[in-house]
Amino acid sequence: MAKRVLTTESGAPVADNQNSATAGVGGPILLQDQHLLEKLARFNRERIPERVVHARGSGAYGYFEVTDDVTGFTSADFLSEVGKRTETFLRFSTVADSLGGADAVRDPRGFALKFYTNEGNYDLVGNNTPVFFIKDPIKFPDFIHSQKRDPFTGRQEPDNVWDFWAHAPEATHQITWLMGDRGIPASYRHMNGYGSHTYQWTNAEGEAFFVKYHFKTNQGVRSLSAEQAAELVGKDANSHQTDLLQAIERGVNPSWTLHVQVMPAAEAADYRFNPFDLTKVWPHADYPLQRVGRLVLDRNPDNVFAEVEQAAFSPNNFVPGIGPSPDKMLQGRLFAYADAHRYRLGVNHTQLPVNAPKAAQADNYGRDGLHATRYGSRHDKNYEPNSYAGPAQTGSALGAPLAVHGWTGTYETAAHVKDDDFFQAGELYRLMSEDEKGRLVANIAGGLSQVTRDDVIEKNLAHFHAADADYGKRVEEAVRALRED
Ligand code: HEM
Repeated sequence: MAKRVLTTESGAPVADNQNSATAGVGGPILLQDQHLLEKLARFNRERIPERVVHARGSGAYGYFEVTDDVTGFTSADFLSEVGKRTETFLRFSTVADSLGGADAVRDPRGFALKFYTNEGNYDLVGNNTPVFFIKDPIKFPDFIHSQKRDPFTGRQEPDNVWDFWAHAPEATHQITWLMGDRGIPASYRHMNGYGSHTYQWTNAEGEAFFVKYHFKTNQGVRSLSAEQAAELVGKDANSHQTDLLQAIERGVNPSWTLHVQVMPAAEAADYRFNPFDLTKVWPHADYPLQRVGRLVLDRNPDNVFAEVEQAAFSPNNFVPGIGPSPDKMLQGRLFAYADAHRYRLGVNHTQLPVNAPKAAQADNYGRDGLHATRYGSRHDKNYEPNSYAGPAQTGSALGAPLAVHGWTGTYETAAHVKDDDFFQAGELYRLMSEDEKGRLVANIAGGLSQVTRDDVIEKNLAHFHAADADYGKRVEEAVRALRED
């Protein structure tokens, strides 16, 4: 096969890619060696800022196929017909560690899904956990600082992790989840995905529903014990990436079944739990799962940097028929993601192939900026309204409105009749088998016993006691035993 000619960035042939140009055999390098200058300069700029959270991840393309009629709840076009398929891209991730971190660690997993629908891209940016640690976005930077590497020691510090939680009783539910058996998934294929937040669906008649998304893995949920994970990390720090890549290359395409819980909007005000509190689930007995469709991943990206590192998901990318709920965490996220992308990837990140609409087309008067690749034709106007053929608004609402009332202020999330910080954590504990409870207690005690301040330990123990008397007693005993060692 004839070799292609190696060129400089401007396309001129390169004579020598092994030896730089020098002044004589032993002399210094010449500034005129354009190929060397370009090569070194480009190499210095290969990295972009990593994501401030969820830095380490893996992605794959696939499709979503509707299996059940949900047109009674939403007018979203990609959900409009049984059998309808929509191309998707899914990025899985760990949360706390940096880009070079290991996969098999105790941490929530990201489950960020882009649907390339013919009404624009719909991003559902969820986790493998149905709840989260906090319920107000104003706490998110502090929470993440406490979980990531300490600015002085450069490592994750149990003192910081548990000190934050000592001040966040609402995290007890998610901590119970994370420290339990599902806290270290065996692979990305063997875990569920959740939208976690409550979203609003609107049907063609304008009726509103609140929904929660559940993607159940068809591979079965499989997890690792702390010991298994430690061993695996030593053998293959990229174990989740290896597993996903190889499964899809072998044609063993992972799939998930999407179910939703649906609450008629009028029921939200009097539901026993605040349906917009991200630290709570809706028990299935109250709102059963209803099947929607199947998500299949069947194609690995050709280039990890282009398609996984540059993937940009925003919870604010909705399509008609789907919109936000008043969940404060979700509302904070509606801002945070595109802002992160503008910093990490630039203002034109939506023009990168993995992020650009595929089944729809972006057509607006946004212009130019660094790295723009989409320009209008010479006849297009760059203002609106205009008397020419440019794009114009539809005038149709994208979804039902949300009712608001009251005065501006900084309020705690409203508690409904059954809401407190501990009840659902206790319910989760009581659901566990005896063995599982033992592992949960050992995992919590393993971390909490490393904390240096007694008052921080006491505050955390009080949370487990409040969730369930047996839970609190066992964690307290296990922590005491480890500290006496
Ligand atoms: C107010 C709370 C939150 C804030 C401010 C926040 C902010 C962020 C930011 C800035 C990123 C990096 C985005 C990028 O650089 O591309 C990110 C990534 C991510 N977040 Fe959040 N986050 C919050 C809560 C959550 C919650 C509750 C979930 C899940 C239910 C979640 C799931 C994710 C996922 C999956 C990613 C990775 C997306 C990807 O694969 O590119 N986050 N978050």
